[in-house]
Amino acid sequence: MAEEAAAGINVNRLRETQVSPLILEEIKYEESDRFLTGIEEFDRVLGGGIVPGSVVLIGGDPGIGKSTLLLQVAERIGRESKSVLYISGEESPSQIKMRAERLCTTAKGIYILSETSVEEILRHIQKTEYSALIVDSIQTTFTSGISSAPGSVSQVREVAAILMNYAKKSCVPVFIVGHVTKDGSIAGPRVLEHIVDTVLYFEGDRGHPYRILRSVKNRFGSTHEIGVFEMKEGGLEEVLNPSSLFLSERTVGSAGSVVVSSLEGSRPILTEIQALVSPSPFGIPKRGVIGVDYNRLLLLVAVLDKRVGMHIQGQDIFVNVVGGLELSEPASDLGIIAALSSSFKEIPVDPYTVVFGEVGLSGEVRGVTSAEIRVKEAAKLGFRRCIIPERNATQLAADSVDIIGVSTVKSALEIMFS
Ligand code: TYD
Ligand code: MG
Repeated sequence: MAEEAAAGINVNRLRETQVSPLILEEIKYEESDRFLTGIEEFDRVLGGGIVPGSVVLIGGDPGIGKSTLLLQVAERIGRESKSVLYISGEESPSQIKMRAERLCTTAKGIYILSETSVEEILRHIQKTEYSALIVDSIQTTFTSGISSAPGSVSQVREVAAILMNYAKKSCVPVFIVGHVTKDGSIAGPRVLEHIVDTVLYFEGDRGHPYRILRSVKNRFGSTHEIGVFEMKEGGLEEVLNPSSLFLSERTVGSAGSVVVSSLEGSRPILTEIQALVSPSPFGIPKRGVIGVDYNRLLLLVAVLDKRVGMHIQGQDIFVNVVGGLELSEPASDLGIIAALSSSFKEIPVDPYTVVFGEVGLSGEVRGVTSAEIRVKEAAKLGFRRCIIPERNATQLAADSVDIIGVSTVKSALEIMFS
């Protein structure tokens, strides 16, 4: 409560929802209360469908496709003889209709309300019972209880608390759209993260059609789950096999390119890491990363220098993860090391090899979680060899791929470049 009070939420309002204490044993909850939208990538990121009474924040840059995604979700909900209210403070009903035509929406149960006052919204939803509510966006919605402008930190928090209160009381799930803003002037979704149940970020490069829906907080499922979509003429299409997508433009046999098997939530994804190591024309060598942690790169470069004797410290070093994925888990360490070495030596790594393993400061290769799932994904996509931590290798049964266990970076590189 203290945390919420500090965050500026009206604590009294939240208190209204707790009428009297219930015995935990007697509270009824069934997993089947969740409902599935049928958009698999979306359901999985939510932790297995929509939880009644949950508040889900969907954040992302303007124009990334949040409204499109939610209209598609609305269409799925509205199809199942359920009704969903799409409240837009940004677009007029005819603009939403235009998008719906583009998406070939035919569901009967979608209602559109063009409204920005949260009090008016509450008046509407108290009259009619909907199965779900979509508020697009939090920045345009305001409460008359606060004098500051819509989109300000206090407005955004208060409106979110009101919607949260409604969701908990009515058991209607509420989806809130929040634009991520780079400058601090308007309150972005970050200030709401601790209020809502689930926070999903919709990411992607507007130059590319791929979009990743990432869960960063979920009271009802695991975080770090991702869903992959492709933005097409007729809306967002699910990408059910992201590995083949991320590898589709790989130039086989080029130095500095290595395929790693990373785990995003419960799902393995194969992706290509590219490294470029070249002599530095200036005194201070440059480092650049896209998709991997900068400090992790510095650490791995130091390991290569000190433990393997590969002197790349004085070189310019760039690392890129293809397809816009963020590799945050240490299991991609060995892949980064392999890509760096391959570029430095100008020797390609065998294109049918997948690499993963955590690297420690003494140059040892440490075991990772879910090795079997990672190896299976590689086998599925036709890879022939996996270079993995020794500890994992000893626990794995023989598969259609060759499994080579390594315990040090040095031995891993010897195998790769011999
Ligand atoms: P939108 O959902 O309006 O983004 P947001 O709500 O996050 O601001 O989507 C905007 C972009 O998506 C727009 O530039 C056009 C593109 N788009 C398509 O490519 N195909 C489609 O079918 C739709 C509806 C949008
Ligand atoms: Mg929008």
